Amino acid sequence: KRNIAVMTSGGDAPGMNACVRAVVRAAIYRGCKAFAVMEGYEGLVRGGPEYIKEMNWLDVRGYLSEGGTNIGTARCMDFKQRQGRLKGCKHLIDAGIDALIVCGGDGSLTGADLFRKEWPSLIQELKDTGVISNEKYEKHKHLNICGTVGSIDNDMATTDATIGAYSSLDRICQAIDYIDATANSHSRAFVVEVMGRHCGWLALMAGIATSADYILIPEKPSSSKGWQDQMCQIVSQHRSKGKRKTIVIVAEGAITNELEPISSDAVKDVLVDRLGLDTRVTTLGHVQRGGTAVSYDRILATVQGVEAVKAVLDSTPDTPSPLIGIEENKIVRKSLVEAVEITKSVATAIENKDFDKAMSLRDSEFTE
Ligand code: F6P
Repeated sequence: KRNIAVMTSGGDAPGMNACVRAVVRAAIYRGCKAFAVMEGYEGLVRGGPEYIKEMNWLDVRGYLSEGGTNIGTARCMDFKQRQGRLKGCKHLIDAGIDALIVCGGDGSLTGADLFRKEWPSLIQELKDTGVISNEKYEKHKHLNICGTVGSIDNDMATTDATIGAYSSLDRICQAIDYIDATANSHSRAFVVEVMGRHCGWLALMAGIATSADYILIPEKPSSSKGWQDQMCQIVSQHRSKGKRKTIVIVAEGAITNELEPISSDAVKDVLVDRLGLDTRVTTLGHVQRGGTAVSYDRILATVQGVEAVKAVLDSTPDTPSPLIGIEENKIVRKSLVEAVEITKSVATAIENKDFDKAMSLRDSEFTE
């Protein structure tokens, strides 16, 4: 029976706690020991019982609905260095862990993939330098890694939804509903900036769900003059039909087709200068990441956590590391390496100004 550890990493996302709960309980249910690595990769680098803790059934009571992550998370610089990963390798072996389930975004899962790839050379170095015994070397030769995607950005390839994205989307829509009331009262325009890093999913979906007047996302940029003219034309048309409020949603990663960032203040200036609208900017910020998980995220995280434990128990040393995703409403096992590679290729396509390719590599919502 295995010793399975779970870790949350990168930006917290509603539903991460539900995933931890599911992993802990599914592992115990299947006769394994469950552990939590506290504070993401930082906990791996630091090691010891304070950071790698055994978890019991009742330790995760109440986790299902809670926002954030109760086992902590971090954006860890040390783990980006080989030395940090070497420490992580030693600490996992010290704690007797033989499988690690990481719930995080694309950066965290890229880290997990690198750790998996490097594991044989890390453990070899620990053996050659006498840090671990031959016996431990033989026992821990293979580390089993499995990814579940926890991120509000919904930017990971090969899965339709990431844990936290729908909770964040809900929060954004609620905030825009509030803004609608005040915008309508004063006949004002609001530029609402939303998170998503280099992905426009939150902005695009929030725009559809709140009937925004205009949306700016990184995947479909135009020239600086292009977006300004189009936005002004659409907003004027809406206003000419008696609409008293204007909502423009800007993804934080919005860019022009020359890869120049488009700031919310720049959008506001256009609305003021060209249309004479009384305009305010609202940057929603971390409110979008907080709060309880919506039911979809609780369910997604739970079924994916259970599936992650199953995937770990099914794997052999030759099985490629899986990423647990959802596709057409079915929980699926994908290749972690491939998912990381496709996700990176979206960023590369944008850098190369190949926006059609970037759109086609994103989910169908972007292309339809
Ligand atoms: O990846 C999640 C996310 O919330 C992004 O949307 C945002 O760009 C980033 O994290 C903010 O990071 P931090 O909380 O470290 O400022």
